[in-house]
Amino acid sequence: MTKLVLPGMLERKKGAIINISSEVAYFSLPYLQLYSATKSFVSSFTRAIDTEYGSSGITVQCIEPAGVSTNLNAFDERIHRPGFFTATPDHFATSAVATLGYAKSTTGYWTHGLQLSFLQLFPEWFIVMCFRYMVEFNQKKLK
Ligand SMILES: NC(=O)c1ccc[n+]([C@@H]2O[C@H](COP(=O)([O-])OP(=O)(O)OC[C@H]3O[C@@H](n4cnc5c(N)ncnc54)[C@H](OP(=O)(O)O)[C@@H]3O)[C@@H](O)[C@H]2O)c1
Repeated sequence: MTKLVLPGMLERKKGAIINISSEVAYFSLPYLQLYSATKSFVSSFTRAIDTEYGSSGITVQCIEPAGVSTNLNAFDERIHRPGFFTATPDHFATSAVATLGYAKSTTGYWTHGLQLSFLQLFPEWFIVMCFRYMVEFNQKKLK
């Protein structure tokens, strides 16, 4: 997609590329190894693209959300239900779009920012271990 849209943007000297990563980009999650690895890729790729093209009039942004109530997490009502940490798609989109041009990298939603800052207080191995137990506990539903 980036390869597809970038030439036109460079020609016009304007445009915006918003890549949707995830908070899990910061953690190597067991059982969701492909998902978290892919999200790390998206975050890293976006930072690199911004370094290359950010000064060409193109805004490159990486959004790293936590929970948004969509089909993605509909397998478990506890994480799907909108609440303090789980944004509705409308609330999330409104909040995330408002950060365009201000933040190169953001969770896109204030409670997600709080959540990520809290998680980053702990060493990664601890978060990964908690996640592992959480997934093993919910394995049936995840499958
Ligand atoms: N929801 C969350 O809590 C959360 C948290 C962090 C990051 N994210 C990220 O946010 C992004 C959007 O996810 P979402 O939460 O909005 O989930 P979603 O409601 O399940 O939407 C996923 C979208 O991706 C499309 N899609 C899936 N597989 C595809 C494929 N192989 N080729 C083309 N399109 C495909 C689906 O199209 P169809 O509708 O046609 O199937 C759908 O429009 C994802 O990158 C996800 O990783 C979500």
